[in-house]
Amino acid sequence: MLHNTISPPLSNDAPVVLEMSHVSKSFGAVTALVDVSVKLRKGEVLALVGDNGAGKSTLIKVLSGYHKPDAGTITSKGRPVRFQSPRDARAEGIETVYQDLALIGDLSIYHNMFIGREYHKRVLGMRMLDNDRMRGMAEEYLSTLGINIPNVNSTVDRLSGGQRQCVAVARSIYSSPSVLILDEPLAALGVRESAHVLGLVQKLRREREVSIILIVHNYSQIFEVCDRINFLHSGEIVLDAATSDITEEELTRTVKSGLGRLLRPEERAVPMAATP
Ligand SMILES: Nc1ncnc2c1ncn2[C@@H]1O[C@H](COP(=O)(O)OP(=O)(O)O)[C@@H](O)[C@H]1O
Ligand SMILES: [Mg+2]
Repeated sequence: MLHNTISPPLSNDAPVVLEMSHVSKSFGAVTALVDVSVKLRKGEVLALVGDNGAGKSTLIKVLSGYHKPDAGTITSKGRPVRFQSPRDARAEGIETVYQDLALIGDLSIYHNMFIGREYHKRVLGMRMLDNDRMRGMAEEYLSTLGINIPNVNSTVDRLSGGQRQCVAVARSIYSSPSVLILDEPLAALGVRESAHVLGLVQKLRREREVSIILIVHNYSQIFEVCDRINFLHSGEIVLDAATSDITEEELTRTVKSGLGRLLRPEERAVPMAATP
């Protein structure tokens, strides 16, 4: 299967394409992110992990222009950027597939693939959607990615959760972004469908053109397709490690035993406070 093929390690001189420095974000009294710094290099696949409510979605929503940070900066391809909206982030080459996918249920699969970038044709001088062209391109593109959708004419709400995820991912990759962000792309998927999405990620990883941030819970999947792991706990990054420098067992142990702190060696000597 695709995702079992080994990718060569990321080159040490791969440039940083996207960087978040000292970002904080609160929603009223709820602190979602505290002084978070993340670096993403060209072609890198970065796993973002952490419990529910840890701030993972908020982090990527800041990167994708959906939320503005309260403090801190974002740098894209070496330049500081201030996204006013997801449109700004997209113009910078950052594509995001959110947890809720944002597909339009009662629209056909191929129309969903081309939302916002429809092809048109002229018929008797009138501008009309070029449905044949979009249908053909959607079929071809999905099959190139190994995504098995019987009929691109059917509406999205007739698809399984897994098929929807694949369509959403395919749609985002279609515009050749420099950064692809996937919020829990495997959450609703069965084993075979997960393998498809992971195969897609592995394919992109081998090509090392697009950089990917992936929120995923299953550690063995992380070690299979990711170069690096950032672990978020209560809005803070408490572990940042290359998958080649840590084993799955070490990660599990670190997470269970009180949340990383690998970033702060001075804290390692301090015994953890007993929880009352
Ligand atoms: N739009 C929002 N308004 C208020 N609170 C929010 C909002 N989005 C997230 N939060 C809160 O911020 C914290 C982090 O949430 P989130 O980033 O969704 O975590 P995760 O994706 O890791 O589960 C949670 O306490 C959540 O309830
Ligand atoms: Mg989330």
